[in-house]
Amino acid sequence: MDFNHFRYINNTLHVENTSLKKLSKQYGTPLFVYSRQGIEQQWTAFNKAFKQQPHLICFSVKANSNIAVLNIMAKLGSGFDIVSEGELERALVAGAEAKKIVFSGVAKTSSAIKRALEVGIRCFNVESYPELDRIQSVAKNINKIANISIRVNPDVDAKTHPYISTGLKDNKFGVDINTAPQLYAKATTLSHINITGIDCHIGSQLTDTQPFVDALDKLLILKNKLQKQGINIYHLDIGGGLGIQYTNEQPPVIAEYIKDILVKLNDPQLEILIEPGRAIVGNAGVLLTEVEYLKSTAHKDFAIIDAAMNDLIRPALYQSYQEIKPITPRTDGVEKKWDLVGPVCETSDFLGKNRRLNLKATDILGVMSSGAYGFTMSSNYNSRPRAAEIMVDGDEYFEIRPRETFHDLFGKEQILP
Ligand code: LLP
Repeated sequence: MDFNHFRYINNTLHVENTSLKKLSKQYGTPLFVYSRQGIEQQWTAFNKAFKQQPHLICFSVKANSNIAVLNIMAKLGSGFDIVSEGELERALVAGAEAKKIVFSGVAKTSSAIKRALEVGIRCFNVESYPELDRIQSVAKNINKIANISIRVNPDVDAKTHPYISTGLKDNKFGVDINTAPQLYAKATTLSHINITGIDCHIGSQLTDTQPFVDALDKLLILKNKLQKQGINIYHLDIGGGLGIQYTNEQPPVIAEYIKDILVKLNDPQLEILIEPGRAIVGNAGVLLTEVEYLKSTAHKDFAIIDAAMNDLIRPALYQSYQEIKPITPRTDGVEKKWDLVGPVCETSDFLGKNRRLNLKATDILGVMSSGAYGFTMSSNYNSRPRAAEIMVDGDEYFEIRPRETFHDLFGKEQILP
């Protein structure tokens, strides 16, 4: 397995040129560490793969929304895919150009819609009839025109974990592709709505391009249908979802995936929007954690670590597997099979099970591929302050978010008078 910007130098895991041991000492654990080069490399791979095809990469902010991370991409000229007013404000503070922001999500509030119209975002990805009405009414009130695409549900099986599959008939997302023409027809009658595109997002952590190609096929059929209705489509938004290698998966490389899309598209004029999240930041991040105790029972060997499901919920929520590496592999002792469990009082609080590792208390471990859906899904459960985040940039590194304090935890709560 190759975690490109992570490698051992003198028996210590480094990210770029920076020792993770040094960072764990300086900032403590649990600690998220990201590689700027790793992020830039993946973003650039998407950008280059499109060649001459008009396109806009809209990084999916939910995957990693630290403003330093967003700013790195804003500087590269990235667009952003947001799903809330909070994500909109983050993206703007991070230097995003409003005209490169697309707004997805099934429950856009009136306040978020208003703010998005005021700053002039690129497009709303509309997910239902009532949402279209709401956008029309907010836009009319403030006398703005809303660009929209309709998120259609192409009913293709993304063949991924059911909780992160979004393009099936019985998912809450989007509008049935067969009835979408009626919604488009309605949109043409609304005074403050301007139709610009078609959108879809079929799921996350896809390891095969076929479902993407099948979905695109259906979007192209819809586009032709709409054109016959006299409705012009200027862009297709193909969503995010390209998977990464956590262990033995073999997802297509970015260039191959985009090539397959462009071959199917076969239209060098049409603009493609794409909303990758995980594929850009996933393997650019690690979660560092320290072994607190080793606890053996008659049945199991537990390594109790200081990171928990509140820091990284993916294993508990999706039974997902993330590689766990020693920061300084031991040369003494022997390997054993460990369950790596956190301090939270839940049986689902584990980051790895049955991992062959040679461990002692105080060892530092790295939970790999934690750059996406790590910090953004973290919580304060069990009154645990959220971890700090560090960005490594070659020989330099920056604390891009300090560890939360107890004041951050409950400083705004009030005891009754
Ligand atoms: N666009 C839309 C509309 C989305 O809902 C998502 C992800 C993306 C783009 C980005 O997908 P990506 O390229 O990152 O696969 N928490 C889960 C993943 C949830 C994905 C939700 N939507 C996990 O940790 O696996």
